[in-house]
Amino acid sequence: MGKVIAVANQKGGVGKTTTSINLAASFAATEHPTLIIDIDPQANCSSGVGIDPRRVTASIYEVLIGDIALEDATCSSDMPFLDIVPSHINLVGAEIEMIDVMERERILKNALAYARRKYDFVVIDCPPSLGLLTLNSLTAADSVLIPVQAEYFALEGLGQLLNTIKIVRQHLNPELEIEGVLMTMFDTRLRLSNQVAAEVRRYFGAKVFRTIVQRNVRIAESPSFGKPVLLYDATSIGARNYIALAREILLNNQRYLQQPEETSEPVSDTSRPASNRNGNGHPESHSSSTPANGFTMR
Ligand SMILES: Nc1ncnc2c1ncn2[C@@H]1O[C@H](COP(=O)(O)OP(=O)(O)O)[C@@H](O)[C@H]1O
Ligand SMILES: [Mg+2]
Repeated sequence: MGKVIAVANQKGGVGKTTTSINLAASFAATEHPTLIIDIDPQANCSSGVGIDPRRVTASIYEVLIGDIALEDATCSSDMPFLDIVPSHINLVGAEIEMIDVMERERILKNALAYARRKYDFVVIDCPPSLGLLTLNSLTAADSVLIPVQAEYFALEGLGQLLNTIKIVRQHLNPELEIEGVLMTMFDTRLRLSNQVAAEVRRYFGAKVFRTIVQRNVRIAESPSFGKPVLLYDATSIGARNYIALAREILLNNQRYLQQPEETSEPVSDTSRPASNRNGNGHPESHSSSTPANGFTMR
C-alpha cells in the first residue's frame, strides 16, 4: 500500500507546489512509482511538470464531481515513475458543486483506492485555503507535510492549520499524522532565516525535518520549463535538498514500502498505473512492481 501525503498550509507562496513537484520527482528518481494530485485550481503543479492546464480534458475536477475515475484523469510525465492527475480552472466551482454530495469530505479518499495500490507515494498539492478541497485532501491522506517559509510571520496561521488537522482527526480521519514541517526558501546568508528556523523548531520540536530547502534560483526557474528541478539542473542545491528530503521521508516510512511480494496477487494489466490516457505515454518500466530502493540520482 502506498502512502498518501498532503502538502498543506493555507498560506500562499510558502512552497507547497514546489515541494509537491520536487518531492514527488525525487521519489520517482529512486524508482518509487509516485502520483501527484494537483487539487489547486491554479494548476501550478500541472504546468510545473509540463502539462498545459488549458488543454486538460480529464482533471481532478471531473473526478471530484463523480464524472470519471481517478485513473482516467491520470497522465504520465517526462519521468518514468512519475504520474500526475492535473487540475483545471473549473475546480474553482467544485467546492460549491460538492456541497450537496453525501460525505462530501470523503470524495477524494474514495477515489484514491486505486492509486494507493498502484503507487508507493501519492503527493497532494493543496490550495491555499482550508476549504473543502483541503479537507478532502486531509481526509484522504495518511499524513500532512507542512511547508513553512523562513520569513517573518512564519508561524502565523499555523495554529489554524493545526486546529483543522485536529478536527479532521476527530471527525474524518483519526489516523492522520504530521509527516513533518519543512523549512523552505531558507537563506543561509540571513540571520533571519536561522532565527525563524529556531522558532519553528521550538514550536514543533522533532516534527521539523532535518532537511531544509534553501532559496535557490534553479527551483524558481524550473517550472517555466515545465520540469522538476531534478530534470532542469540535477546538480543544483535545490535538487539536492529535495533528494535529501525524499531520503529522510523514505527512511521514516520503511513499513509503507515493505510490500508483501510473495503473497501479493500477480499484477494484471488492468491494475497497472494508468498512463497515456491523456495522450502522453511513458515506458512500460514505470509499473515495475519491484521498486529499487537505491537512489539513482544525486
Ligand atoms: N526554495 C526555493 N527557492 C527559490 N524560490 C522558491 C523556492 N521555493 C519556492 N519558490 C518560489 O516561490 C514561489 C511560491 O512557491 P509555491 O511553491 O508556488 O508556493 P505555494 O504553492 O505554497 O503557493 C514560486 O514562485 C516558487 O518558484
Ligand atoms: Mg501552490
